[in-house]
Amino acid sequence: MLSKKVTCNEHGQDSSYFLGWQEYEKNPYHEIKNPKGIIQMGLAENQLSFELIEEWLDQNPEPASFKRNGDYIFRELALFQDYHGIPAFKNIMQAMIQFMEEIRGNRVSFDSNNLVLTAGSTSANETLMFCLADPGDAFLIPTPYYPGFDRDLKWRTGVEIVPIQCNSSNGFKITQSALEDAYSQATKLNLRVKGVLITNPSNPLGTTTTHQELNLLLNFIASMNIHLISDEIYSGTVFSSPDFVSIMEVLTERNDLMDYKEVRNRVHVVYSLSKDLGFPGFRVGVIYSNNEMVVSAATKMSSFCLVSSQTQYLVSEMLSDKKFTSKYMSENRKRLKQRQDMLIQGLCNSGISCLESNAGLFCWVDMRHLLSANTFEAELELWKTFVFKVGLNISPASSCHCSEPGWFRLCFANISERTLDIAMKRIKSFVASTSSTTAAPTGNDKYRHNSSKINNTRKLFTKWVFRLSFNNRENDR
Ligand SMILES: Cc1ncc(COP(=O)(O)O)c(C=O)c1O
Repeated sequence: MLSKKVTCNEHGQDSSYFLGWQEYEKNPYHEIKNPKGIIQMGLAENQLSFELIEEWLDQNPEPASFKRNGDYIFRELALFQDYHGIPAFKNIMQAMIQFMEEIRGNRVSFDSNNLVLTAGSTSANETLMFCLADPGDAFLIPTPYYPGFDRDLKWRTGVEIVPIQCNSSNGFKITQSALEDAYSQATKLNLRVKGVLITNPSNPLGTTTTHQELNLLLNFIASMNIHLISDEIYSGTVFSSPDFVSIMEVLTERNDLMDYKEVRNRVHVVYSLSKDLGFPGFRVGVIYSNNEMVVSAATKMSSFCLVSSQTQYLVSEMLSDKKFTSKYMSENRKRLKQRQDMLIQGLCNSGISCLESNAGLFCWVDMRHLLSANTFEAELELWKTFVFKVGLNISPASSCHCSEPGWFRLCFANISERTLDIAMKRIKSFVASTSSTTAAPTGNDKYRHNSSKINNTRKLFTKWVFRLSFNNRENDR
């Protein structure tokens, strides 16, 4: 009676990433009301600088109360529905462009005619899929990747994801051979590759993509005649060196590329205010593309994912206040860095290390030594122990399609310092309770593993990833 879309299980709701959230909802930690509850460390939210925004709202009450120069503009806002953005105010497009340029150290200049407003990055990414690929076409994505991409890129569009397998041997960097392997894997599966999608800075790694990787990607898409999407939703969270480098910055340096104009038309950027300003509820995102046809089609499609006029008004006023944005961004980065330090130190006290990172709202944590075996089954067991016994919701490697079991993403910006401290104490006592049965790694031991075991695991995992792409996922459980 219902559509295939409704009855298929491609949304990814049954992944441990979303299941962890459900468990948290059933038993959320509260210092007084539920001190034994689950602490949410599986949610990439930024709650560190809200009082700076509240201060701005106190000083600028008009946008939040439907007023301009003392007069109500409620009717204007209530009726507005043009997808080109509110023209009557300081233009939202212009405000977004300037904010994005500021984050890129004003080394890139954007053109507001190339911008499409969307309801967050979720819709921006899906809209780009609708513009660039047909059902059954594939996009290549470096692993580990944001678990929500299975829903955002595949579910409604019918596009397939083929993983570019990155691993810890080089800090999960993208290599030429990993790109080529993914491309030939897609070809073997009779999938037409339409592009590569990266997240820079990476979710879940918390690292910025290097200049060298960005060049490699540009060469690759130039030679394969495909698209490149750079999801730069975390671009304003870079809190230590190296600096963030946008694909648009590297693109401007690369006029040596063959068919440069063509390549330029195949590079697209996604951005939103959900992470940098901590506004996921406001649903403000953009697509930036040099390709006129993509901009035109995406603008028409944005009818399905408009940003409300009230939000546009508020955001354009806030982002036009340069004094505020620059103070907010620098203070927010400082706070993120402090939190990251706190998490790293807390984990270190338990003999746990993380991938070195410089951005994001999370760390990519190496708990391979805590696994009972080097398998995804053992990872699932450890994850369950964390959720149900230790009382922490964290996201396992498998939910991010990582090829190595035992890595976990731990978020640090959505909880208070006190809660983070309690989370670290819980981990410490858990590790102490297991130390009689497992040996904690020391120094360089962290990447030392039986390589044939890892290779076997990788093969199994690759198979599993492909099954996830093509079958109803219920079959895998
Ligand atoms: C890489 C990435 N892209 C997109 C999104 C979705 O963001 P939005 O709230 O703007 O839809 C997220 C959210 O976690 C993300 O991590």
